[in-house]
Amino acid sequence: MPDPTTLSDFEAAARALRDAATSAFAAASSADALELARTEFLGRANGRINELQRLVPSFTGDDRRIAGRAFNDTKNALESALAERRDALASAARTAAPSVDLTMPARRQYVGAEHPVTRVVEEIVAIFRELGFTVAAGPEAETEWYNFTALNFPEDHPALDAHDTMYLAPGVVLRTHTSPVQIRSMQAGPPPIRVVIPGNVYRLDPFDASHAPMFAQIEGLAVDEGISFVDLKATLAHFANRFFGPTRTRFRPSYFPFTEPSAEMDIECRLCHGSGCPACKGTGWMEILGSGMVHPNVLEAAGVDSERYTGWAFGMGPARIALQRYGIPDIRLLYDSDVRVLEQLAR
Ligand code: DAH
Repeated sequence: MPDPTTLSDFEAAARALRDAATSAFAAASSADALELARTEFLGRANGRINELQRLVPSFTGDDRRIAGRAFNDTKNALESALAERRDALASAARTAAPSVDLTMPARRQYVGAEHPVTRVVEEIVAIFRELGFTVAAGPEAETEWYNFTALNFPEDHPALDAHDTMYLAPGVVLRTHTSPVQIRSMQAGPPPIRVVIPGNVYRLDPFDASHAPMFAQIEGLAVDEGISFVDLKATLAHFANRFFGPTRTRFRPSYFPFTEPSAEMDIECRLCHGSGCPACKGTGWMEILGSGMVHPNVLEAAGVDSERYTGWAFGMGPARIALQRYGIPDIRLLYDSDVRVLEQLAR
């Protein structure tokens, strides 16, 4: 600042300093910026206010008094402008909007969904519940006796081979089907028995498009006095109509050690309605379950009097049914943990 020689020069310099400081404080948009501006103008050692102060003694008499007052007024004005700005910044910080950009695209949330096999199992179970069946469960680690012997498997049945069955210890297997829970259900109390048994089963199958080493099954069992094959057919045909919508069904003779007679049930192919297509290998039919009248040896093994009681049973694979229903081409997709696959399956 050129040394003002007159009082009016001094007053002009004081005004200029005040204007410069006020606008610097107003322009400071953060506490840090305001502190820099404070140092520039009001700093104890090098603040520009000191230059003004140093000029006061160059005046004499009344002029010095007037210059002194002008200096004080300027300094006060700077200090109150600083305090005002400090308050304004502090209250702006308190009320500031959270620092999120509301126009940014939202991050996608993966919403869980029922697995298609779970959905199929629950629908099937619900239909049998309407018919008076209850739900039972049994262990996945099962003894050979429950898994095979009590179910009338002959000693040399190929399913007992370690090539087909996962053995946990001598005499203990990962159950290869839900049928052992038939025995457990009959042991739990006397007939009448009407149960459905959903659960996972294990086989030493290669993991390919239509086989998995672990898969779900649903077992059904009805034991009472006077149960006949008519009950089996009527119940399973009703089930097929409820689950798939009106459909034709057919029963083909089959063989299982634990049923006699045994039958497999087919439904009309969902895709070609019976005319034959690649999905049904040209037959017009799709197999959905195995069934039969409970073998008297099985009733007896479970402690049920086979002279008094008869029963029917079925077993089906909900994964196969889910593949058909949702048009899924490869069973391995059901076990894929990629959320994109699961999202599509869940639709
Ligand atoms: N346990 C058989 C299997 O895993 C399925 C089965 C067939 C179950 C006939 C039954 C039945 O209860 O009656 O292949």
